[in-house]
Amino acid sequence: MRIGFISDIHGNFTALEAVLTDIKKQNIDQLICLGDTVSLGPQPREVLDALREWNAITIMGNHDQATLEPQRCVEFEITEHLIPDLFWGREQLSKEDLQFIGSFEAKKSIRFSNELELLAYHGSPKATTHLVLATTPTETLDNYFNGQTASVFIGGHSHIQMQRRYGNKLFLNSGSVGNAFKFAFTQGNPPSLLPWAEYAIVEQNGVSLHADMRRVYFDTNALIDRVKASDLPGAEWWLQQYQDK
Ligand SMILES: [Fe+2]
Repeated sequence: MRIGFISDIHGNFTALEAVLTDIKKQNIDQLICLGDTVSLGPQPREVLDALREWNAITIMGNHDQATLEPQRCVEFEITEHLIPDLFWGREQLSKEDLQFIGSFEAKKSIRFSNELELLAYHGSPKATTHLVLATTPTETLDNYFNGQTASVFIGGHSHIQMQRRYGNKLFLNSGSVGNAFKFAFTQGNPPSLLPWAEYAIVEQNGVSLHADMRRVYFDTNALIDRVKASDLPGAEWWLQQYQDK
């Protein structure tokens, strides 16, 4: 089985289109989105339409939760300066779009033909806001993943691709389609973006398991044009990200 994982699209349909064009050539059996579909970017509706069109299994991210319940956005750890964009994104959506987001799953277990179990989530199996990085202390990993039967784990949320083996567990992060971060987010240190989209393909074939971390360059000028054509409150931030890159 060959599965494509996309995550953290954040309303950047320009990046998603580039990724989906690449995925079409990859002969995947299933597309799984690991959450944060909308909120921040200029085209949340188009992102949701594409996920429906692809029959993507979609996991709930913290920005998806906050889009459904914006009054709880602090609890879902939405950075303060991003809150106007979160509300703007919600206003673009129809009742059906919000119902679709409400149908996203908390996590998804996949069993490959060799009985290997993979667990997909947004932050960790316990919370959409948990951050799993290459540098996360092993005590924290033990806390986030205790009681899990899977041995392959894949999430998003950090916006940074990762492969990390710990004991018999393999932790993967497919990175971010719409907001590939240069460095991991830390408080008081606003992220800057890289001019490409990230995704992953995981394949179990006979006795082998492959995790392919992929990068697709997209047309950042087209994204800038779409941002300018919107009345997104955070438009200036997007424009700054791709200058001189
Ligand atoms: Fe995100």
